[in-house]
Formats: sequence, structure tokens, C-alpha cells
Amino acid sequence: MRPIRYSFALSMLMFLPAHAQQAADAVAPEGAVDLSTEATAPVEAEDWMVAAANPLAVEAGARVLREGGNAADAMVAVQAVLGLVEPQSSGLGGGAFLVWYDAETGELSTLDGRETAPMDATPLLFQQDGEEMDFYDAVIGGLSVGTPGTPMLMEVAHRKWGRANWAGLFEDAIGHAEDGFEVSPRLAGLVAEDEYLPGSPSAAAYFLPDGAPVAEGATLTNPAYAETLRALAAEGAGAFYYGEIAEGIVATVRDAEKPGKLTLDDLAAYEVVERDAVCAPYRGAEICGMGPPSSGGLTVGQILGLIEPFDIAGMGPDSPEAWRLIGDASRLAFADRGRYMADSDFVPMPTAGLLDDAYLEERSQLLQGDDALPEVNAGSPPWDHAMLWGDDDAIEMPSTSHISIVDGDGNALSMTTTIEGGFGSHLMAPGGFLLNNELTDFSFSTHEDGVPIANRVEPGKRPRSSMAPTIVMRDGAPELVIGSPGGSRIIGYVAQAIIAHMDWGMDVQAALAMPHLVNRFGTYDLEAGTSAEALAGPLGEMGFETEIRDLNSGLHAIAVGETLSGGADPRREGVAIGE
Ligand code: DON
Repeated sequence: MRPIRYSFALSMLMFLPAHAQQAADAVAPEGAVDLSTEATAPVEAEDWMVAAANPLAVEAGARVLREGGNAADAMVAVQAVLGLVEPQSSGLGGGAFLVWYDAETGELSTLDGRETAPMDATPLLFQQDGEEMDFYDAVIGGLSVGTPGTPMLMEVAHRKWGRANWAGLFEDAIGHAEDGFEVSPRLAGLVAEDEYLPGSPSAAAYFLPDGAPVAEGATLTNPAYAETLRALAAEGAGAFYYGEIAEGIVATVRDAEKPGKLTLDDLAAYEVVERDAVCAPYRGAEICGMGPPSSGGLTVGQILGLIEPFDIAGMGPDSPEAWRLIGDASRLAFADRGRYMADSDFVPMPTAGLLDDAYLEERSQLLQGDDALPEVNAGSPPWDHAMLWGDDDAIEMPSTSHISIVDGDGNALSMTTTIEGGFGSHLMAPGGFLLNNELTDFSFSTHEDGVPIANRVEPGKRPRSSMAPTIVMRDGAPELVIGSPGGSRIIGYVAQAIIAHMDWGMDVQAALAMPHLVNRFGTYDLEAGTSAEALAGPLGEMGFETEIRDLNSGLHAIAVGETLSGGADPRREGVAIGE
């Protein structure tokens, strides 16, 4: 496809709804910069579409849909291939959240396939001699490995909604694992720059054969992974949670130089949980996503709820004022996230209160004014549970992958899947997949000023996530299926793309490609090498600290209208395919 020069000023004239068109016709806002970028045209289709982070994985999903499978079936095929060709990001050794729109019933639901802390873990898991461990000391090795949820999530989704033959869904992945796949530039680059792989024998044997990093374009086979997939295909997820594969996982964790606490009992006890979607109103639509233990749905919903009273569409994407509002709304939402959000099966949480209309309206008043908020604190959402929580201090690092699928029946699936950081714990199980380091998404400290932290480690608990698989619903039907990797910046990437599409009228590909601006805790991150850098001046004058840096989102989205329109984040290697 031929890249076209995409100017936001031009896009506004072409695509904006009437109320925003008036603003586009008006003079440029004070301090406006031209946030132009390059974007290809979105992929258009009539019937079905898959968008994900690797062409081989998307092809596998497309084949399933072409042959009459549905979105749940296609997800299994996509995930099985992603675990092979993008092993640093997601796979059988990790966890995932899935949002499902069922065309037959009109219902939305979610599956929580998040990893759990082993039953032997305590709140002091990441402390040594009373001190919090260094982040990477905790990440690398067995201590960070939670009980994987992805294999069971694949099976539960297929059992609930799928219709294709289960075993057939693994064919493409098994074929690529046995015949070999071409190492992508991104995988080769990440292997070469990872300083911990050489010291992790199980992972080094695969990623650095003969001591040298696998090269871009080389053919890599993974016979152990093929064997694991054959077992899953023949016996279902039970083959993963009991028997030889489970024993291999536990031995890898417990025999690691830094051993962890995972046991066969943890694997045998693992359950995927079906939960209600969390939905927040925005511009006449409902933004629906993943509730606790993810903070994704609530924080995206809060950001949008806080800016709803403002004419973001009229201001346009080039206006520093729009970014002041989005940035400070995000800081307010992250302050609530840090205090209140965690696994609500373990700690009481004001889930409804955080999206309460009156509460958001009151918090939104803080955004009146012209300058960046000097100080941001958690609010007091309505809550009938008198409880004091300390602010948490979890750190999250890049990897992860997002899959968006719409099938010919109109079902929609949005799934974000992860092993947490790049290459997870850096432990490779004998079954040919990396084990997650998801437990480092917990807070390392247990208390703040003597007050307990909601997201502290507890046995069996799921670490708080930022993953935000989202389906935007309008009049009871999906309008946009979207999500991204990016650690806690996921929330900003997803909120920004929704604003770009809904307020600024950008097509789905342009909304994913536009330069990123993300604010979580005060510093405004501006995407390096893009026109977002030009906002450093105006935002600095408003009182924001700014930092120019790489912002590695991996957004994949499908807009659903009369036809389907899909996009893949140009920052990664993904594609959208539809027919
Ligand atoms: O669940 C979470 O929020 C994180 N473990 C996700 C990690 C991630 O997105 C890294 N991305 N680039």
C-alpha cells in the first residue's frame, strides 16, 4: 500500500463530524502545532477481519475465518502462532484478558485469564532483608512467575463461543514450529539487545544458539513447542495444567538460579474467571473493557469521563489546550488507579464509584483553568466501604500483544495477551515457551506510611494490570474493537486512539499512527521523532514537565460500520486482514 502524507488539518476537513467541522474552519488554536504524520489507508472488508502483531499469526486467524470458524476459533489460532513468532510478548506461559461481544445474544462479557500468585507467595515476595528488591533482580528467574492463564483462556473461549474443531486450530502453529519461521526484525533486535538472555540458560539455548543471537531472516524451528501444541490439540488445556508440561514448568521455576514458589497444585487449581465488562459512557457510546484485576477499563473510562464536558473535537488534535485536558485527566485517573485498583476478589474496591457520574463531574471541575495541575491526588469516589489504601508503586515494562477480531456473524473479540516484560522471566519451559514475570505487576512494598497497599502480593491473587482490551458499543452494537501493549501507557494509547477516532474523526489507521502523547504521573511523554515533539514548548509553558522518548504502542483496531475498517500500529510488525 502506498503511504500517504496524512495531515491532521487535512483530515479534519475530510472526516470531521459537523460540530467539529465548525472548529476546523475557525482559526488555529493558540499555540497550535501541526501534528502531521504518515498513515497508510485502513484495510477495508465486508465480512470479517483480524488485526494482530504478526502476519503469520493474522494469516492463521484469517484461514480459520475463511473456512467458517468464528472470532473465538480464530483467536486460538492467532495466539498459538503469536507464541511462536512473537515469543517475547505473549504465549502459553502468560496471561490474557478477553472482551467478547456475542452477536446472537447482544451481550458483552469478559474472560480473565490473568496469572495468579502461587499459594506459597506472601506480601514480602519481592523484599529482601526488609528492603524492596531491584526491579530486574525480581523479574529474572522463578520468583516473578505466576500461574499461566492463557492456555485455559483459549480453551474456555472456544468451549463457550467457538464452533470449529479445536485440534484443527493449532495446525498452522504446529506447521510453522516444525518447518521453521523467519525471524522478524523486531524479534532479532530484541534478542540482540536483551542483556539478561545470555545468563538464562534455558532461554539462551533457543534465542542464542551457539552463543550468537538469532539473526533477522534466519529460519527458527521450535519442535518442543510443536509437541506442546499437539498435546493441547489432542487433550485440551488439561495437558498443560497436569502431567509432563506442568512438571516441566514447575521444575524450571523451582530449579532456576533464583527459584520461585510455583507448585503443581497452583497449576491444577488455576481458573479462568468470567466477569462483567466495565462500561463508561462517552459521546453517546459506551466504552466497554476489562474491570479488576485490570485497571484498564476503569482508567480509560475515567479519562474519557473527565474530558467529556469539554469540546475536545472543536479544539482539534493540534491544540495544546486539548492535550492539557487529556494529560491532566489522565493524571487524575492514574492517581485513583494507584490508590484503589487491584484484584477485587481480594481487596474491596469502589469499582462503581470510580465511574460514578457525579464523582467524575466533580473531579472534572479540577480541569477548569489554563495551566497544568500543580498537584494531583486520588479522589474520594462514592464507596460504602470505609477503607484506607496507600498509593502503590508497581513498575511495568514493555512487551505484550493485542488481537482484534470481528467475524462474519458480527461477533467481536478484543484480547490483550502478555508474558509481562520482554521475554518474561527469561525462563523457557521444556515445552518451548517462555514463562511470564507477571508477579512484578504487584506492588513490591506492602504499605505506604503504615497504610496497606491494595495491589500488594497475596497468595492466589492476580496482579493489577493495565491491559485495556476495549469494545466501543453504540446502540447495542460494536463500533470499535481496540487495544494495545505498552505497560501502564496502554491506558493512554487506547484513550488517545479512541479520542482520535471519535472526536477528531480520524480513520482507524490514522488514529493508531498519530504521534503519541501520554501522561500518567506528571511527566508528559512525547513520542520521539514525531511532530509531538513540537508540543514540548506549549505544554512546558502550561507547567508540564515533558520528556521526549520512544513510545512503543502496538495498537490493533477494527472499526465496525456498514463495512469493516482495520488498522495495525506502524510501530510494530502487525497487519489487518479481512474479506
Ligand atoms: O498487565 C499489564 O498491564 C502488563 N503486564 C502489560 C505489559 C505490557 O504491556 C508491556 N508492553 N509493552
